[in-house]
Amino acid sequence: MNTTDQQSKIVLVTGGSRGIGKSIALNAAKRGIGVILTYNSQPEHGKAVADEINQNGGKAVALQLNSADTGSFSNFSKQVLQVLKTEWDRESFDYLVNNAGIAQRTLIKDTTEEMFDQLVNVNFKGVFFLTQKLLPFITEGGQIINISSGLARFAFPGVAVYGALKAATEGLTRYFAKEYADRNIRVNSVAPGAIDTEFGGGKGDEGHRHQIAAGIALGRLGVADDVGLFVASLLSDDSRYVNAQRIEVGGGIMI
Ligand SMILES: NC(=O)c1ccc[n+]([C@@H]2O[C@H](COP(=O)([O-])OP(=O)(O)OC[C@H]3O[C@@H](n4cnc5c(N)ncnc54)[C@H](OP(=O)(O)O)[C@@H]3O)[C@@H](O)[C@H]2O)c1
Repeated sequence: MNTTDQQSKIVLVTGGSRGIGKSIALNAAKRGIGVILTYNSQPEHGKAVADEINQNGGKAVALQLNSADTGSFSNFSKQVLQVLKTEWDRESFDYLVNNAGIAQRTLIKDTTEEMFDQLVNVNFKGVFFLTQKLLPFITEGGQIINISSGLARFAFPGVAVYGALKAATEGLTRYFAKEYADRNIRVNSVAPGAIDTEFGGGKGDEGHRHQIAAGIALGRLGVADDVGLFVASLLSDDSRYVNAQRIEVGGGIMI
């Protein structure tokens, strides 16, 4: 199989059914990349994104994944291998985008151990073990992109655990880059700023949105495509010497 052009590449995007992940999936497909996307609790959104790609001449499959359920990762990997075989006649894929995540809206004093564990499981532990599980199937010269957050760099009240875990994910990015360099697999993190999705219940009323926008050099909140277009553009050999980096896509937030 010819794997030198984008037409033969495949990306797996976790949380590709809504928001930023959906935009990554759609924009990767527009570049000719085959897409495996995941949803967790809302299959209809996963199916809608896959249908949109398939109806527009691309190829996509939606699978269920709960990033917090590490026990399901073996079975998930088997499903991935199965769709790779049946849909693409391949046993590997090229790009993994660890995008799925959940938000926090609690001050430190109100954060329970249960909330803490859920945030860790989805936003950090799941990223580590899913990547570990899928790495044998990522091609040499492939790429992993971990979606971080501006909150890994600056602090706001109410997101302490979330922000710290995104910072940890950026650390992990460098370690994966180090350990998998022998397979020429590049690992980078992309840190969105304030992006107007449904994440954590959205960005609030007009007043709050203005307040956020005032802290952004470009003077507006981001939209999912601001991140999706950029991540899709990274999924190429054009970025072949970019490795172990944190790239913020936030319009110049909190500078
Ligand atoms: N929006 C922002 O301002 C912003 C800023 C910085 C960083 N980020 C990061 O960007 C990523 C995507 O955020 P978004 O704004 O696109 O969020 P979103 O609109 O809320 O979408 C979240 C996606 O993740 C999936 N998901 C939720 N819980 C999951 C779980 N336990 N296991 C697997 N998948 C799960 C959802 O699937 P279901 O709908 O099926 O549950 C959905 O596809 C996250 O990592 C987030 O931390 C977002």
